[in-house]
Amino acid sequence: MAHKTETSPAGAELLPVDLRSDTVTKPTEAMYARMASASTGDDGLDGDPTVQELESVAAAALGKDAGLFVPSCTMANLLATLAQSERSEQIVLESNAHMYTSERGAATFTGLFCLAVAGTAGAMDLNLLEHALQSDGHKLKTALVAMETSHNNASGAVLPLEHMQAVHAMASARGVPVHLDGARLFNAATALELAPDQVARHCDTVSLCLSKGLSAPAGAVLAGPRAVIDRSRKFRRMLGGTQRQIGILAAAGLEAVQVMGARLAEDHRRARVLSDALNGMHPKISATIPQTNIVQVDVSLSGRDSAAWSEALERAGLRARPWGRHRLRCVTHRHIVDADIDRAVIAFRTVAGALV
Ligand SMILES: Cc1ncc(COP(=O)(O)O)c(C=O)c1O
Repeated sequence: MAHKTETSPAGAELLPVDLRSDTVTKPTEAMYARMASASTGDDGLDGDPTVQELESVAAAALGKDAGLFVPSCTMANLLATLAQSERSEQIVLESNAHMYTSERGAATFTGLFCLAVAGTAGAMDLNLLEHALQSDGHKLKTALVAMETSHNNASGAVLPLEHMQAVHAMASARGVPVHLDGARLFNAATALELAPDQVARHCDTVSLCLSKGLSAPAGAVLAGPRAVIDRSRKFRRMLGGTQRQIGILAAAGLEAVQVMGARLAEDHRRARVLSDALNGMHPKISATIPQTNIVQVDVSLSGRDSAAWSEALERAGLRARPWGRHRLRCVTHRHIVDADIDRAVIAFRTVAGALV
């Protein structure tokens, strides 16, 4: 049976161009084929062979000892936190990090304090970090430092490797492990023209989302030292994340890790084309210059807020997501082809043309 998975099927001009997120991507035909023939087992009983394969392939790609397949990247980040901290300690992270702004559940479940450090383009200020890590009689013990690359709220910015190295060295000097929220690590690696393990070597544990630009239907992998992964596996069971016959999803995850990273540069190129067009369009709108697949469009000078823009763009055939009151977020992904970027630009021009 054929699946409707590939880019812009015939007649798609009637559908809006969907730049809300790379999470809208559907599985590829190759994923469906691998899912249909996957060997499966009970991952909570005697194991699932396809999950085991994914865990070892992903761990190798990330340069870590062991991996753990989990339902979502939020759970991967939560498990990394739970496995490496005790109640009443603290996790230090950049103030716009997804783990801080959107995964506050982690703080609730762990009993950890989240200490946010101001940063630029997703990179923590190193002086502030150094200060945050210093202990005096009044501070909580830091259990974990977390970084994020590419950085979602910083418009897909990629952390410079020297920054990652500096953070890792600073934390390691105090015996504090570093977790990398690598939901879009393959995008960061693509932008840096490095293999993923070359980026992930500057952290102890790393999460990787399989269901964003990599197009798997669900799932993420947490990778790191074997003892941390063993501990995470126990917490995963407590959270209800242990699944049966889940090799069906792991099979798509294998395709994501082994094959799908190779095409991400295309998404990055199209994001740049969009950004360039928007920056030349109207003095009252401006776009970030993307390093990866995320463009933020600042509409604060336009006299309309992001929700009004989003509604007007939808009427003009483009779905873009309000990102706070004054910005829209546009994310390129596998289903977006060059003609879709042209249509997105026309939609922006239509709405901008109505500005006074
Ligand atoms: C940087 C980052 N980390 C983690 C997540 C959480 O991923 P999931 O929705 O798969 O739980 C997201 C989701 O957008 C993200 O952008």
